[in-house]
Amino acid sequence: MTTTEPVIAARHIAKRFGHVQALRDASVTVPAGTVVALVGDNGAGKSTLVKTLLGINRPDSGEVVIGGEPVELHSVRDAQARGVDAVHQDLALAPELSVVDNMFLGHELVSGPGFLRRRQMMERADAAVRELGIQLPSLTVPIRELSGGQRQAVAVARAVMWSRTAVLMDEPTAALGARQSEIIAELMRTVAAKGLGVLVISHDLPRILKAADTITVLWRGETVLESPAADLTVPDLVATMVGYRAEEAS
Ligand SMILES: Nc1ncnc2c1ncn2[C@@H]1O[C@H](COP(=O)(O)OP(=O)(O)OP(=O)(O)O)[C@@H](O)[C@H]1O
Ligand SMILES: [Mg+2]
Repeated sequence: MTTTEPVIAARHIAKRFGHVQALRDASVTVPAGTVVALVGDNGAGKSTLVKTLLGINRPDSGEVVIGGEPVELHSVRDAQARGVDAVHQDLALAPELSVVDNMFLGHELVSGPGFLRRRQMMERADAAVRELGIQLPSLTVPIRELSGGQRQAVAVARAVMWSRTAVLMDEPTAALGARQSEIIAELMRTVAAKGLGVLVISHDLPRILKAADTITVLWRGETVLESPAADLTVPDLVATMVGYRAEEAS
């Protein structure tokens, strides 16, 4: 496992929406086999930066680098084609469909007769869920019958199943209790141990300090700190965010 080669990075990104300068100078680097946490206040630009890495937003300036090469992403499909997949803030699972159907949503296997295709889908989904150690009643229950944590785990498994480079997660534990958040944090470590890069947005500072290798702080659209998580404490991190705010006010 290498910890030096960045699998995905954003360099000096600027992005404006009308009168709002959402990003001014935002950078983040995700080495292979590591978990990088993106933290910052509400409205700091975290989701906007991740959407830029996914091809949902086009940056006004700056560049996205995947696998060492600057790339121009025009859509989520472009990012997926480069092995980058995501767990979105709103999850985007279909509640009436089964676990296995959700894992293949938008990625259906097209070859072979229906029954063969079905068996292949079950086998692949089962392997992905097992590899991550996810506990589910079965792959054929509809998503609406699962707990919030189980749904989140399915969303992570789906992203991991389709990604070869990096998995980006926008607040994957926002709606979860302590135990389920812990399971998702462990899942991030498991995904990184496979050699993928993991970029996670989180407001849960104590948990993310334990789960992440590197912390990147965004403040008003600007990257103001990139540091090994081991060198930081929660008060340090809060002080960094508040410090920048105090500095601006003075
Ligand atoms: N599509 C859009 N159109 C207009 N403004 C936008 C759009 N997306 C984001 N913004 C604005 O850009 C700024 C950054 O938003 P963003 O969602 O990136 O913040 P965030 O750091 O993810 O915040 P939170 O922690 O609340 O999720 C905000 O002021 C927001 O209103
Ligand atoms: Mg956000």
